[in-house]
Amino acid sequence: MDKLNPKQDGASLDIVQDNIDKLRELFPDAFTEGSDWDGPRWKVDFDALRKILGDYIEDERERYSFTWHGKARARQIAQTPSAGTLRPCPEESVNWDTTRNLFIEGDNLEVLKLLQKSYHKQVKMIYIDPPYNTGGEFIYPDRFQDNLDTYLRYTGQIDDQGLKVSANSESSGRYHTNWLNMMYPRLRLARNLLREDGVIFVSINDVEAPNIRKILDEIYGEENFVSQVVWQRTRRGDAKLIANNHEYIVCYAKNIHATIEAGLWRRPKEGVEEVLEKYEEVKKRFGGNHDRIRKEMQSWYRSLPDGDPRKSHKHYNWSDDRGLYFAADFSGPDDGRANRPRHDILHPVTGRPCRKPSTGWRWDKERTEWALNQYPSRIHFGLDESTIPNRKSYLNEVSVEPFGSVFYKDGRSATLQVERLVGSGEFPFPKNSEVIRELIDIVCGDDDFVLDFFAGSGTTGHAVIESNVRMKKKRRFLLVQLQEPTNSASYKDISKLGMARLRSAIKESERDGAENSKGLGLGFRAFSLSASNIRPWDPTAYDLSASLFDYIENIKSDRTESDVLYELLLKYGLDLVVPIEEREIAGKAVYITGAGALVVCLGDNIGLEVVNGIASLKDELTPEVMRVVFRDAGFTNDVVKTNAVQILLQAGIEDVKSL
Ligand SMILES: C[S@@+](CC[C@H](N)C(=O)[O-])C[C@H]1O[C@@H](n2cnc3c(N)ncnc32)[C@H](O)[C@@H]1O
Repeated sequence: MDKLNPKQDGASLDIVQDNIDKLRELFPDAFTEGSDWDGPRWKVDFDALRKILGDYIEDERERYSFTWHGKARARQIAQTPSAGTLRPCPEESVNWDTTRNLFIEGDNLEVLKLLQKSYHKQVKMIYIDPPYNTGGEFIYPDRFQDNLDTYLRYTGQIDDQGLKVSANSESSGRYHTNWLNMMYPRLRLARNLLREDGVIFVSINDVEAPNIRKILDEIYGEENFVSQVVWQRTRRGDAKLIANNHEYIVCYAKNIHATIEAGLWRRPKEGVEEVLEKYEEVKKRFGGNHDRIRKEMQSWYRSLPDGDPRKSHKHYNWSDDRGLYFAADFSGPDDGRANRPRHDILHPVTGRPCRKPSTGWRWDKERTEWALNQYPSRIHFGLDESTIPNRKSYLNEVSVEPFGSVFYKDGRSATLQVERLVGSGEFPFPKNSEVIRELIDIVCGDDDFVLDFFAGSGTTGHAVIESNVRMKKKRRFLLVQLQEPTNSASYKDISKLGMARLRSAIKESERDGAENSKGLGLGFRAFSLSASNIRPWDPTAYDLSASLFDYIENIKSDRTESDVLYELLLKYGLDLVVPIEEREIAGKAVYITGAGALVVCLGDNIGLEVVNGIASLKDELTPEVMRVVFRDAGFTNDVVKTNAVQILLQAGIEDVKSL
């Protein structure tokens, strides 16, 4: 039975190895067999690769590039596997059994590494609002090689709290550098989680906007740039020179063609929903009397104050049995072309040809006939043929528009919303959940996945909840937030505050949108970043026999079966919300996940009855591949352990490992 190697298997996806495998698929000739301390390995033959790529090699000394001190190291940081794990925290969670949302406490660099297998190409939309680098925020220190260790010290999970965290001030001399070194590896890792048609939105201000564009150009490709949206957050301005009252949301697609192909990206025009609601109400009152409906709609529009978005649709005051419409001009453009369609259109009452516009019609005869033959007709006529006919433009058919690249949304309502949910003064400058909800609505399909790895007060999670309740969708969120200490008496750190906000938001949604919120999986599963449950093999040189004895049991003594189970899910690339069935087989707890994709038994004194019981699951559950994991020291004796492999193999289960 193969033992899970704590050094490899306790770590997250080895990204370098994964990239090498991909490269070898493309250029098998550029690889040669070599070996490492842990066995044979493919090695890149750069001379061969250079020959294969021929003209496409850049070897000019002066070239266009964006670089800074530490960039190579930042790239390497992204590729170093994590030795951490995510431990479940059901007591912090809401609706653990029914939700598919996740809230992860921890440093996002380590967490993104741990998510690489389970959520590879799963995420439709990333929204992040990282520290803007205005001097006040701290930049969490990534220490090369031992970032997890740094994190454990920072969060007091291991002794020596000597980690000094300071703000990234301009006087540090590495102002932009520190920020870029922090952002670069995280953005690289995050891209792997995006689906082919996925997109990333990054909130940023003028200080780092040029830098974020440069690194996103590099990571996503310039051709995948979508927009740098300007968000005006206040109308006030009291600067000595120019009042800076905007910030940006920069957007890149993973693959712009796939994003366009996937469609969506339209939002309702402001005020349209309300006008259509009014129309429905008026229609109920006046039935099929379209003249009365028109008079009523016109008088309602007049009663609205100037500047009201509903009033901008006041030309939509005609109606027929299809709905509310505007009688739109369909004369041909005045472009001097003599051969515009000039066919006759007969008046439906008088039967005589109607007046024609001097520039002819916009539509050809065929299209006009199609419109006339619809029921109700899509052409609007005057009382007789003396009026030039129009085309009917229905409000419910033109009720959407693209998201504009400039918009205004006051920041104060966001602060009030968070204050209502977690108390006043607890979290400065949250983002508006309404804005993020609109982005989610234009980008996401019915059950798409939204990721925010700088979650703060949890605005993105709240926006997903709002979007689901309003539109009866089942979109999921995955939030990551560091336990950054706060000065608050109520919340020890920002991740606790974020979870508290989500708990209140869920309660509020269940109360206010009671009917709509049913069956949507509102809630979240909380997890916390920690060192792996599996002890790495780290013997003491002066007492090897004691070390060997100690390492018989390599699961840490303070960890639960559930902790180990979730680590295995990550290692095998399964979703952290995959259903887990617990069964008792011959008196031992056996966990069946993903309908048999992974079967785990971590009990003691495992005998052949347990092994046979697990073998029979293969026939019962018929998973494509079944993997089985035991504890190495869990068998009654070595004979059972040896026989277990054979019994399971005979049942068609080849992947059997021990911990
Ligand atoms: C500008 S705030 C995000 C605010 C959020 N959009 C909201 O509306 O509440 C940035 C957040 O990123 C968090 N953060 C900074 N470094 C982090 C790291 N390495 N891992 C996880 N979170 C981090 C900070 O603690 C802070 O809460």
